[in-house]
Amino acid sequence: MTNFPFSLLFIIIIFFPPPLSALSYNVVSFGAKPDGRTVSTAPFLKAWASACNSAAPSSIYVPKGRFLLKGIVFRGPCKNQITFRIDGTLVAPSDYRGLGNSDSWILFSKVNKVFVVGGTLDARGASYWACKRSGKSCPVGAPSMTFNWANNIVINGLTSINSRQTHLVINACKKVLVQNVKAIAPDQSPNTDGIHVQTSMDVTITSSTLQTGDDCVSIGAGTYNLFMTNLKCGPGHGVSIGSLGKELNEDGVQNITLKDSIFTGSDNGIRIKTWARPSKGFVRNILFDNIIMNNAKNPIVIDQNYCPDNKGCPRQSSGIQISKVMYRNIRGTSATPEGVNFDCSVTNPCREIKLQNIKLLYKNKAAMSSCKNVRRSANAMLMPRSCL
Ligand SMILES: *[C@@H]1O[C@H](CO)[C@@H](O)[C@H](O)[C@H]1NC(C)=O
Repeated sequence: MTNFPFSLLFIIIIFFPPPLSALSYNVVSFGAKPDGRTVSTAPFLKAWASACNSAAPSSIYVPKGRFLLKGIVFRGPCKNQITFRIDGTLVAPSDYRGLGNSDSWILFSKVNKVFVVGGTLDARGASYWACKRSGKSCPVGAPSMTFNWANNIVINGLTSINSRQTHLVINACKKVLVQNVKAIAPDQSPNTDGIHVQTSMDVTITSSTLQTGDDCVSIGAGTYNLFMTNLKCGPGHGVSIGSLGKELNEDGVQNITLKDSIFTGSDNGIRIKTWARPSKGFVRNILFDNIIMNNAKNPIVIDQNYCPDNKGCPRQSSGIQISKVMYRNIRGTSATPEGVNFDCSVTNPCREIKLQNIKLLYKNKAAMSSCKNVRRSANAMLMPRSCL
């Protein structure tokens, strides 16, 4: 006879909804151990599976402590948005062989609306760099975090140290915001780029500090609408568009802006670099604005004669067409006599290069500039004296 009154059940649900935390998945409750020694890859994947299958927005929480992760793939598509909130540190195996031949240490693939908030990544790259320096055959260097085929991504407040290769890779993505990120690796660590972007559009990188052994930000083929502001670069090799044009059929790079940034002790400042090989790629609509150079070795560079060790391209010229590049309000000091160096392609000269309000000093005197193969270009208020 006991028919549970449904109206009562209804009232209970209205007034005592399940707590929101039901949709927050703490990796520790899936068995992850914050001791830095126990491999926590499987518990992280279980937390991901729960979040990914959740019809409502959900979050994954990583508390304080050190969590040892081997190569891990967070695969989508997922049912709704996921916030990855990290208070702790994710650490890679200390031995460089510990990641095997993984393409990335932490990989997000085919996800939409993923927000990574906070966190430290410690890839413990030292043993991998030692392998590289020894000339032994080493596994391919795994970037610390990679997004492949991902859309609507936010990475906010992440710190990455001692990556084996690039700290953060954005590949084949749309709409990515990277902010308040720190990427730190020693000056001489090989190939430790800060952020690499390729085949992606509508990417913003802002308020970030990138002190690494290689490029601060490197921009590969197929990058459209990249906006960078408030970056602190150096040590490292500066912001680089390229290397491009190694392949004949290559997508172009278009609409890139870098503003309000500082380069300190970097090997280059702002560089565009292409292989001396035939290619159908291009670089156009680029703006570098309001940039301070503190003792950067080559503050402004276009190098279209890249051919390391003279292999695969001797006596060829770059097919990449560079046009509409504006350098505005760039000042500070150069660590070499040459402040501006445009070495463009004989067969595809650079076009519409503009220099405006440039003031670069070398040992308290105007730095020099040199130009090869530049057409239809202009400048105003230039120190060094222009070569355009
Ligand atoms: C160029 O990129 C910016 C973002 O930096 C974007 O707002 C703008 O719409 C893009 N312009 C074109 C013509 O696509």
